[in-house]
Amino acid sequence: MKVGVIMGGVSSEREVSLNSGKEVLANFDRNKYEIQEIIIDSKQDVFTKARDIDFAFIVLHGKFGEDGTVQSVFETMDMPYSGCGPLTSGICMDKDITKRLLRSAGINTADWLSVKSMDGIDYESLDKIGYPVVVKPNSGGSSVATNIVKKKEDIEAAVELAFEYDKEVMIEKYIKGDEITCCMLEGKMISVISIKPNAEFFDYTAKYTDGGTEEMVIELEESLNRKVEEMARGCWDVLKCQVYVRVDMIVKDGVPYVLELNTLPGMTRNSLFPKGARGAGMSFPELLETITEASLKVKR
Ligand SMILES: Nc1ncnc2c1ncn2[C@@H]1O[C@H](COP(=O)(O)OP(=O)(O)O)[C@@H](O)[C@H]1O
Ligand SMILES: [Mg+2]
Repeated sequence: MKVGVIMGGVSSEREVSLNSGKEVLANFDRNKYEIQEIIIDSKQDVFTKARDIDFAFIVLHGKFGEDGTVQSVFETMDMPYSGCGPLTSGICMDKDITKRLLRSAGINTADWLSVKSMDGIDYESLDKIGYPVVVKPNSGGSSVATNIVKKKEDIEAAVELAFEYDKEVMIEKYIKGDEITCCMLEGKMISVISIKPNAEFFDYTAKYTDGGTEEMVIELEESLNRKVEEMARGCWDVLKCQVYVRVDMIVKDGVPYVLELNTLPGMTRNSLFPKGARGAGMSFPELLETITEASLKVKR
């Protein structure tokens, strides 16, 4: 079977994707699969460069990658591809819609406001939510333009900055607690990773600098683990996830809050998902094979 590793892309996360792609290329079992590197420089490249493969292993991030558009292209081409389908990918790219669905399903997530213009900042509601809050682009990623705001006077500047990256901005109650991420594979939580950034939060520098963050596969205490697992599986079900996702959470006083879902988590050697797989006794090549075979089995 000829597997195309789809990497690069046109989003701001192109470099991260190229790194992930390099690692995926190096780790695919060449005795089982014929591997082809496919670097995407423009959207049309998908139609031309990914034509004569049997399976598309997507390692793109951000827009036209993680947002369901490239998945739709593969659907149109009748080309099997890895991971979640277009609908789930699109929804998870939109933090506001994701949280609305989670909340309606009774899954705990911090209070928030969604703002569509500078005039749309509702300070009364913000007072009710209470400071500090986190301001971030609604469809962001990699913590770009994400800031903790401690007082009313600083809201405007933070929202203005986030608007440079998105047409919609989220203002969310800041949850001071322990950050974790749950690796979900075929509907099961295979591991929980504790994230301890050497910064106020898991910002861009902490994410992509060596030693910027301490990340460790951990065993949660039994009752908390049960809660976290139930929530992660709840997210999986409500958002109709397929194959694999990562669920970001913050645990405060034993109560987990879901931050967001990542439908195409990073795949560099230091990325969280491969680390989580390793913690569950699964090598990188085994993880790639499992994702591929599970993606081929899934009903689209
Ligand atoms: N409500 C919040 N409370 C505390 N920290 C937050 C909150 N929202 C975001 N953060 C911090 O910002 C980081 C990035 O936010 P996240 O919602 O995961 O967006 P993305 O990873 O897509 O940029 C999180 O990993 C966390 O460290
Ligand atoms: Mg995140």
